[in-house]
Amino acid sequence: MPRIRAQHVSKVFGRRSAEALRKIRQGADADELRRMGVTAAVADVSFEVNEGEIFVVMGLSGSGKSTLIRMLNGLLEPTAGSIEIDGVDITAMGGKELRRLRQEKVSMVFQHFALFPHRTVLENAAYALETRNVPKQERLAKAREFLNHVGLAGWEDRYPDQLSGGMQQRVGIARALSAETDILLMDEAFSALDPMIRREMQDLLLDLQGELGKTIVFITHDLNEAMRLGDRVAMLRHGRVMQIGTAEEILTDPANDYVAQFVADVDRTRVLTARSVMDKPIAVVDANGGPRAAVRVMREQQTSFAFVVTRDRRLAGVVFAEPAAKAVRAGRNTLDGLVEGGTHPVDPDTPVADLFLPCAESPLPVPVTDRNGKLIGVIPRVTLLAALGHMGNTGEMPVVREDTSPPEETTPRGVTADA
Ligand SMILES: Nc1ncnc2c1ncn2[C@@H]1O[C@H](COP(=O)(O)OP(=O)(O)OP(=O)(O)O)[C@@H](O)[C@H]1O
Ligand SMILES: [Mg+2]
Repeated sequence: MPRIRAQHVSKVFGRRSAEALRKIRQGADADELRRMGVTAAVADVSFEVNEGEIFVVMGLSGSGKSTLIRMLNGLLEPTAGSIEIDGVDITAMGGKELRRLRQEKVSMVFQHFALFPHRTVLENAAYALETRNVPKQERLAKAREFLNHVGLAGWEDRYPDQLSGGMQQRVGIARALSAETDILLMDEAFSALDPMIRREMQDLLLDLQGELGKTIVFITHDLNEAMRLGDRVAMLRHGRVMQIGTAEEILTDPANDYVAQFVADVDRTRVLTARSVMDKPIAVVDANGGPRAAVRVMREQQTSFAFVVTRDRRLAGVVFAEPAAKAVRAGRNTLDGLVEGGTHPVDPDTPVADLFLPCAESPLPVPVTDRNGKLIGVIPRVTLLAALGHMGNTGEMPVVREDTSPPEETTPRGVTADA
């Protein structure tokens, strides 16, 4: 079951809401509604957020992000549609139940920190527990623990105005964490911070998430932040969802022109990974086969090498055409002694930006192996270069010189004649 499920949620500001909702269902755009005198801040939005996921809602100013997130914890009531948290529709809840929901299940981190200036860092971090009447010693201990988590050990007795913006937001995060709710809502939580600090906070959030595995809805108008943090990203425009998908899906398969234009300037080499550019492995031979089979595969594939895999497709190394052909001539029938290592496989989640060097340094396609060492793809240099061509963004690419040695791979010397 998803932790959060929003179904056909709309929020309309202004009168004539019934008529506005009808228009929204018919697909009316924001301008048409504005002419009626209503603002459709959120228009027929549906999505699910799964356990342990960072779900990013991304959109320009006024696209309805804050309105949407405030409906997820009951601070705003939808004009239409339902919002379920752990299967329970919160739009039917009363004030008391909603307060409990916010205390026990759903915490929020705000853009402008919202710290109490007259309370110490420790007291601020303990605030969420105070509202739940947790005994003092216990809540201060909890708060201390989470201040430690966000790197603020030693700052407990200071006041917010003695802290930098980044540190104040760390307090905000510690406060949300010490409530120990498993759902976190973050509305532009890092937007007020300098770029460097912002990046640090993104790292902190990813670290914490690796450790704590919360379910997070993170709002931002910064596409790079969205792509960096989001397991999935929902692109919002004028209150409507344009697309929901992983960063890769949105970059490689934008749902419409708006999304395509929006993502045109993203540094794809940082977002796309080996998985999305790799080719199916070719020239693969069985470690238990003999040199004759290897030579046949190389001839068929017109290569001067073949990747060697075990029966369960683990990469064992590589075998080259000339020694294999020699072994055939010598009448040998195993690959013993012919399999060479040094193939330097990469993980499928390696960003494309980190593939340039391995591809430049390796005369062979770079193999991609999964967690179990299974060969799942290969990245020849030309494939990487072609992928970059489509990306239209080679800003971070080091110079990769074309190999000037003889084109071995297309003329497998000795293979055809001798085998
Ligand atoms: N209480 C309200 N009454 C009337 N209109 C509102 C109200 N709250 C929001 N709106 C309007 O709804 C639309 C969406 O606003 P919202 O604050 O959700 O956008 P946002 O994506 O969070 O923008 P930002 O990036 O600037 O924070 C805007 O046109 C806004 O003016
Ligand atoms: Mg907002």
